[in-house]
Amino acid sequence: MSTLRIWLTQALLIFLTTESIGQIVEPCGYIYPEFPVVQRGSNFTAICVLKEKCLQQYDVNASFIVWKTNHVAVPKEQVTVINRTTSSVTFTDMILPTVQLTCNVLSFGQIEQNVYGTTVLSGFPPDIPTNLSCIVNEGKNMLCQWDPGRETFLETNYTLKSEWATEKFPDCLTKHGTSCMVSYPPIYFVNIEVWVEAENALGKVSSEGINFDPVDKVKPSPPHNLSVTNSEELSSILKLTWINSGFGSSSRLKSDIQYRTKDASTWIQVPLEDTESPRTSFTIQDLKPFTEYVFRIRSIKEDGKGYWSDWSEESSGVTYEDRITSF
Ligand SMILES: *[C@@H]1O[C@H](CO)[C@@H](O)[C@H](O)[C@H]1NC(C)=O
Ligand SMILES: *[C@@H]1O[C@H](CO)[C@@H](O)[C@H](O)[C@H]1NC(C)=O
Ligand SMILES: *[C@@H]1O[C@H](CO)[C@@H](O)[C@H](O)[C@H]1NC(C)=O
Ligand SMILES: *[C@@H]1O[C@H](CO)[C@@H](O)[C@H](O)[C@H]1NC(C)=O
Ligand SMILES: *[C@@H]1O[C@H](CO)[C@@H](O)[C@H](O)[C@H]1NC(C)=O
Ligand SMILES: *[C@@H]1O[C@H](CO)[C@@H](O)[C@H](O)[C@H]1NC(C)=O
Repeated sequence: MSTLRIWLTQALLIFLTTESIGQIVEPCGYIYPEFPVVQRGSNFTAICVLKEKCLQQYDVNASFIVWKTNHVAVPKEQVTVINRTTSSVTFTDMILPTVQLTCNVLSFGQIEQNVYGTTVLSGFPPDIPTNLSCIVNEGKNMLCQWDPGRETFLETNYTLKSEWATEKFPDCLTKHGTSCMVSYPPIYFVNIEVWVEAENALGKVSSEGINFDPVDKVKPSPPHNLSVTNSEELSSILKLTWINSGFGSSSRLKSDIQYRTKDASTWIQVPLEDTESPRTSFTIQDLKPFTEYVFRIRSIKEDGKGYWSDWSEESSGVTYEDRITSF
């Protein structure tokens, strides 16, 4: 009994589902264009063409066609019967991002049958990408970013292209549209040309190219092994030593040093002109005796091209007691 009931429920469900979708194994007609993509704000016309076989089977012609968008019937003013088999529908000012468009017929004048359905997408062709820039993360990769302009609302492929005199590098593909991380290791001391192509169903555009030597776009790894030593003779100084990143062996690096007392929240800046020449040690003066100071350091190519590294790990040290004023 219960098995029968389940069977009946399932049969009814299948019946209802097929009925409501109205799926017929072979469609009774087609909508053209088949995969419509429309520019926002523009007018759009689709046609539904019924097959001869179905005209007889359901005793209909094109004037029995009911167009629906997202399950709601389209007003008659937008529909035109072109001939016995074909009806067209026109939308002005498409603004919805996606519309389910279906062509239905009233078979025998009353039972609504779905003939065909399609999804209308609307959006914009890609803008020309602007403001392209690249960062070479030392020893890791190159990340290029750009401004894609107006949202397209459509699947849009962005391809970062790069080449130099003798070689084309592999394309960098992204769908996110604002950046791409190239998969090849960056090369130094050659000029490369980089540009972005953007493409979707409504158009294809290419940005202006930028031309640079990747060595001038490097963000070095931060200096490491920063250590702080105090001086028994001078209670007002601490000496810092550190190891520069490997990039320092192919290019000269300058540093930026900041410090603060342990409890302070704001950093004190060592004047940049004091650390402008490549070095791996520096003595900070005019400190307070018997006080704990925290230091951090970062680096950039000596000529200032490229990007500052992230800050190093912090390191701290305590100045010596002042022998004159301490009791
Ligand atoms: C869209 O159709 C309307 C009404 O027919 C017309 O006034 C308008 O100019 C058309 N717009 C475009 C972009 O073709
Ligand atoms: C009806 O019109 C469509 C679109 O203009 C055309 O492709 C088709 O051949 C026409 N069919 C008949 C039976 O006239
Ligand atoms: C469609 O059929 C109806 C009646 O069945 C008829 O009045 C009408 O003229 C036909 N339309 C076309 C375009 O053939
Ligand atoms: C270009 O990009 C840089 C870095 O991403 C940013 O600082 C700058 O504001 C951007 N300029 C414009 C005009 O968008
Ligand atoms: C985007 O790229 C993928 C993979 O290469 C491709 O299948 C798809 O058709 C592209 N889409 C557009 C809109 O160009
Ligand atoms: C730098 O520090 C790491 C761990 O902090 C240590 O293993 C390494 O030996 C240090 N290198 C030098 C040259 O002191």
